[in-house]
Amino acid sequence: MNDRPIGVFDSGLGGLTVLKEIIGLLPGESVVYFGDCGRAPYGIKSPETIRRYTFQNTRFFIETGVKLLVIACNTSSAHAYGPVSAALDFPVVEVIRPGSAAAVRATKNKKIGVIGTAATITSRVYERVIAEMDPSIEVYSKACPLFVPIAEEGPDWWAHEAARIIAGEYLADLRETGIDCLVLGCTHYPLLEEVIRGAAGGGITLISSARAVAAEVRCALDSRGLRAAAEPVKNTGPVESTGPVKNTGPADNAAPPKVSLYTSDSPERFRTLCGSILGATDGADVYTLDIEKYESRLP
Ligand code: DGL
Repeated sequence: MNDRPIGVFDSGLGGLTVLKEIIGLLPGESVVYFGDCGRAPYGIKSPETIRRYTFQNTRFFIETGVKLLVIACNTSSAHAYGPVSAALDFPVVEVIRPGSAAAVRATKNKKIGVIGTAATITSRVYERVIAEMDPSIEVYSKACPLFVPIAEEGPDWWAHEAARIIAGEYLADLRETGIDCLVLGCTHYPLLEEVIRGAAGGGITLISSARAVAAEVRCALDSRGLRAAAEPVKNTGPVESTGPVKNTGPADNAAPPKVSLYTSDSPERFRTLCGSILGATDGADVYTLDIEKYESRLP
């Protein structure tokens, strides 16, 4: 039993797609979420900058006293999961392996498409991880950098005609490859699912890692006896979407479970956008975090 919170971070809103699944699967757990909107997007930055941001975010969560950290960002997972998990004495869950495993299970013709940020795609991490799981699978990848700023603009843009045109341009080549599933290799992309699905064309299964990551978190907690004491029994059922965020304060390890939201940019804008993804956030306190004050080296 352990009532300390789970830490989850992303460059901005994308990780909320993962947070939503975690809350749905593990409603008895307190969660601290950090969306680094002030420094997003990560995916067009250098590996050095991505690592520096990721290490600073990690430092924040160490100080917060989390029991498990979720890197709900493919870009950070691609460039910094190794050093982060090696430096911490609590479990770290990343988003690339769970999404890859779901795609390997889903593909029938052994042709998988992967879309992600420029930094994720150029790292070729998906090719490596999928080859470890099944070397006979062909992977076709494509960077789609404009999807992140569109997602960060909020729900009015997620199914906008402009998003549709951009998705059509990005996915034209992938459509020719004969892939039967497409990994949304950026946690922002599920927000644009409708336009991505339209541009990908029929017969292609979209794979979001969010649900698989939540299952991985549950497994990591269970295997170490880290579940919160007040975990309701219904958690063992299928993952459904979550209710409103009931959260009201900074992490202080107190029951009942709560969700605390931090951002490095305007808290008001963040609150509104979080509400679009998680449900109502009226009662939630959203905190501004001065992330640059945290050390950029791991302990
Ligand atoms: N949502 C993140 C990812 O999964 C990062 C997007 C970005 O900031 O470029 O890669």
